[in-house]
Amino acid sequence: MRVTAILLAAGQGTRMKSYLPKVLHPVAGKPMIWHALESIKQSTTEKPVVVVGHGADEVIKYLGDSARAVLQEPQLGTGHAVMQAEALLKGITDLVVVCYSDMPLLRGATLQKLVETQKNNKGPISMLTVHADNPRGFGRVIRNDDGTVSSIVEEYVATADQLQVKELNVGGYCFDADWLWDALSRIPKNSKKGEYYLTDTVELAAKDGLTVQATVMDDLEETIGVNTRVHLSECETAMRRRINHEHMLNGVTMVDPASVYIDIGVTIGVDTVIMPNTYIHGKTEIGECNVVGPNSIVRNSKIGNRCKVLASELESAVLEDDVDMGPFARLRKGAHLGTHVHMGNFGEVKDSYLADGVKMGHFSYIGNAQIGSNTNIGAGTITCNYDGEKKHATEIGEDVFIGSDTMLVAPLKIGNGARTGAGAIVTKNVAEDTLVVGMPARPIKKLERKVKK
Ligand code: UD1
Ligand code: CA
Repeated sequence: MRVTAILLAAGQGTRMKSYLPKVLHPVAGKPMIWHALESIKQSTTEKPVVVVGHGADEVIKYLGDSARAVLQEPQLGTGHAVMQAEALLKGITDLVVVCYSDMPLLRGATLQKLVETQKNNKGPISMLTVHADNPRGFGRVIRNDDGTVSSIVEEYVATADQLQVKELNVGGYCFDADWLWDALSRIPKNSKKGEYYLTDTVELAAKDGLTVQATVMDDLEETIGVNTRVHLSECETAMRRRINHEHMLNGVTMVDPASVYIDIGVTIGVDTVIMPNTYIHGKTEIGECNVVGPNSIVRNSKIGNRCKVLASELESAVLEDDVDMGPFARLRKGAHLGTHVHMGNFGEVKDSYLADGVKMGHFSYIGNAQIGSNTNIGAGTITCNYDGEKKHATEIGEDVFIGSDTMLVAPLKIGNGARTGAGAIVTKNVAEDTLVVGMPARPIKKLERKVKK
């Protein structure tokens, strides 16, 4: 059986008061429409159709080839929106799932059940409802005395009695496709707003004596639709709670999950502890037995095992195992710290590789550099990598000792076992096992290297 989803995303989202189309506002790091597309995947067999209108260019650009887009112009209501997909889908799908793209918490499993319900329904519509004390502007589900659904009434046209109804229209439907196309041509133009409401198909079915299956959902949270930024924050909180629960059930400790902000798609290994006020964004992979936070921000990065990341920021960076960083350390794009690297307070590393066992304790900037294993970077060391026009590379060998406050004027190579005196300004390459001092730094003696374990 061919099942196709139509996602409605053409509305202006006026109440968001935003330059960004509503469905592109992110929840847990992904646009709302991503969540909608993700949820309908499990229950449909064909590529989804997204109805776009307001901000169409931006939405279409985001969708890429994950969906087929049809334009609704002007936007004359949810029924009119579905009509725009008819030409594309008529005759090539058996069931149509219609969802609004502003419900990021709706689970795939719920839609799967909805489709199953419709497969067993002799009538043309199955829909989702929920009981709630706060109606939030949702349409009311009106039932006959025998319990069958007779119509959906939008809040602004509802009578006082109808407004008392606690059963709400969630906004997820599965239709018999052939019946739907015909019904769409029959829905009346709403006299007040001049719009065509998809919800009016329910009354059409009921009047034809056909069964509308209304499944009552028990998870109210799933049904949150985003109309304002207040709703957006409610979704964010709920989604974050969901994500954190999953990590905890997979063996991650969170001292205070309410203050941990993890995007969709982040992976974290067992026995890692995420401390409060920590943000983990984008495509980030974290291994086992780490302690991340408190007060850390990690984005698009990879962290190995047994690392400590205290009050630090990582952006597109890699930590191998047993790295110890922070507090107040900053890794920018392309920073790669090998095993057992220690990076202390107020350091910054960008586009550089620090090999195993490098120690960089305090106040340094390392950019466009390769640093050999077990080298010590003294406090206040700077790679002067930028001459105002170009970036230049610095290569520092193994077992090097860079004295405090050394300026390494790139391009520059420092041989294995070399040392620089405190305050040296190094403008020329330094040979192996050589001590250089002063400004500009000059060699003063040859060293005998102590072999470290
Ligand atoms: C809608 C339902 C209401 C339900 C509620 C649940 C209708 C008439 N009402 O109301 O019963 O309780 O959702 O959240 O369907 N859209 C278009 N084109 C349009 C108009 C809307 O694509 O011309 C899209 C919007 O982008 C949005 C969705 O349809 O994603 C719902 O529209 P919205 O205006 O938010 O409907 P509600 O008033 O919330
Ligand atoms: Ca809505």
